[in-house]
Amino acid sequence: MTTSNRQTSMRTHMCGEISDVHVGNTVSVCGWVAKRREHGDKLAFVDLRDHTGIVQCVIDNAVDVRSEYVVRVTGVVRPRPEGTVNANIATGTVEIGDCVVEVLRSAEPPPFPVDQRADEVDENVRLQYRYLDIRRERMQRNIRTRAKVNSAVRDAMERQGFVEVETPMLVPSTPEGAREFLVPSRKEPGSFYALPQSPQLFKQLLMVAGIDRYYQIARCLRDEDLRADRQYEFMQLDAEMSFVSQDDVLAAISEAVLSAAEAVTGERPAPIERITWRDAMERFGVDKPDLRFDMELKELTNIFAATEFKAFAGASSIKGINASGRAEEFGRNKLDQMTDKAKKMGAKGLVWLKKTADGYDSPVAKFLSPSEQDALTSMFAAEVGDLILIVADEWMTTCEVLGQLRNDLGRPPVHQGPYRYVWVVEFPLFVGVDKESGRPKPGHHPFCRPHPDDLDKFETDPMSVRALAYDLVLNGWELGSGSIRIHEPEMQRQVFSALGISEEEANRKFGFFLKPFTYGAPPHGGFAFGLDRLVAILAGEENIREVIAFPKTQSGQDPMTNAPTRAEAKQLDELGIRTLPPKA
Ligand code: AMO
Ligand code: AMP
Repeated sequence: MTTSNRQTSMRTHMCGEISDVHVGNTVSVCGWVAKRREHGDKLAFVDLRDHTGIVQCVIDNAVDVRSEYVVRVTGVVRPRPEGTVNANIATGTVEIGDCVVEVLRSAEPPPFPVDQRADEVDENVRLQYRYLDIRRERMQRNIRTRAKVNSAVRDAMERQGFVEVETPMLVPSTPEGAREFLVPSRKEPGSFYALPQSPQLFKQLLMVAGIDRYYQIARCLRDEDLRADRQYEFMQLDAEMSFVSQDDVLAAISEAVLSAAEAVTGERPAPIERITWRDAMERFGVDKPDLRFDMELKELTNIFAATEFKAFAGASSIKGINASGRAEEFGRNKLDQMTDKAKKMGAKGLVWLKKTADGYDSPVAKFLSPSEQDALTSMFAAEVGDLILIVADEWMTTCEVLGQLRNDLGRPPVHQGPYRYVWVVEFPLFVGVDKESGRPKPGHHPFCRPHPDDLDKFETDPMSVRALAYDLVLNGWELGSGSIRIHEPEMQRQVFSALGISEEEANRKFGFFLKPFTYGAPPHGGFAFGLDRLVAILAGEENIREVIAFPKTQSGQDPMTNAPTRAEAKQLDELGIRTLPPKA
């Protein structure tokens, strides 16, 4: 008789394991009643479910078992009678007969069917009864995919000599940009810990401490608005390495990500390609390019260098995209909506042109010279029925607006194959300018190392300084970010000064972090990627909530535990906290 490696004192096999090879064997299986069907006056069919699948048991119909009862069935495996084979399930050629049924626990009728029909149930209800939701095949698969990814990532890091170090959850405020969760101190009323947005500061200190290669599957907390790819709590594969170049970091992280993908899909993805941030913006109009579809942005500034069309004349950047074959789909209404969207994003307008047999159908066609129109046709290889969209503005706006329209027009759901990983490198050190202070804002965090070729532009043209900072992108989602860090206090001071952070402020905010760097900090760099996001895409899910056992709803609540709840007056007293009445 075959044995199962999941045999226990109560069962010999898992439900989903029973197959033709067991015919004639007496087996015991345990699980939940998925379905019961009466069969004549004497017999009933019970589908018994555990996380491996379903097996059909033929029982005496006098036995009182109903949906979601927990039972142990002992019986003999036999082939199903001809004509009753169920090709939809793995155990569909056999059934368990001569059954002795032990009810281990009765159950209330579940609030929703514990199968794929629950996909249609309101998410709040699914989350309220998450323990039932997770009994379902889809959730079982997702949770187990997640465990596979964690384990593959852990293996890959260990293989490469990374050492797991746990960093604290009660920390001072860190400068990563998101709003923090604060935890009041009882011993020091009025003082607060922050929950870590990431282990950033600690992992860098571990490099000063000579750990050399650190990793952690780290829980991070950020009080941000929640959406499909964001939760308050999420998990990162967080890593940091000493004496490395950017290539070393990218190689180590690629190994972890590709190993995880391989563990789930059985196939190792191709080596991850690279694109500079500048190229990503030029070609895709976003810093998280989705390479699964074309519709790239084309540079048109030269074509319209001498144009008489007012909206284009003198514009510093003119670009366009070709939505091939989409002209008919976009009537006036839809084009107006698209124009409004472009304007909301900061464009002055949006030119659209529909390619026809004898030119272009467009309100502005009459302003474009025949040679300009010909140049457009050849630039876009435009064919009848194509829809061309053009924006003229300053470079960043042109790119961003068209990047958004490109995604709106062509981007498939994130979880739809193929998987297209891409490293985006050479992010700018600074992005935009703080409206209040007039100072540049850090592109990522203020510890990213400036590109060595750009150091001389610090004073003259700070916005063009590149950083040794990089993102990993999958199907248009940012999977992770990292950088080579600044390890010299002098350079750190230079960056702080460009950011308008005074020496006093730097010491007050990051003193505990800066001082260690005076004791011999090695050159180092690192990375962190969001495990929830990677798992969601690999599991074929569009929302990270589907791959988190107990997530919060979009409004930040847990319908199962009712968190967040109000604190008792006594607790608040102890913490020295008075609450204000809720805002109207
Ligand atoms: P960053 O802030 O880019 O970098 O975060 C890294 C990755 O973490 C994931 N992530 C999230 N996932 C779910 N919900 C969220 N609210 C959320 N926020 C972030 C994303 C993101 O790409 N310390 C730096 C890394 C470094 O420089 O080493 C950091 O945390 O996938
Ligand atoms: P106007 O001359 O402002 O009436 O614009 C004529 C057409 O050009 C309209 O369809 C506008 O949406 C479009 N347009 C105006 N400014 C721009 C611009 N900077 N980039 C692209 N299209 C523009």
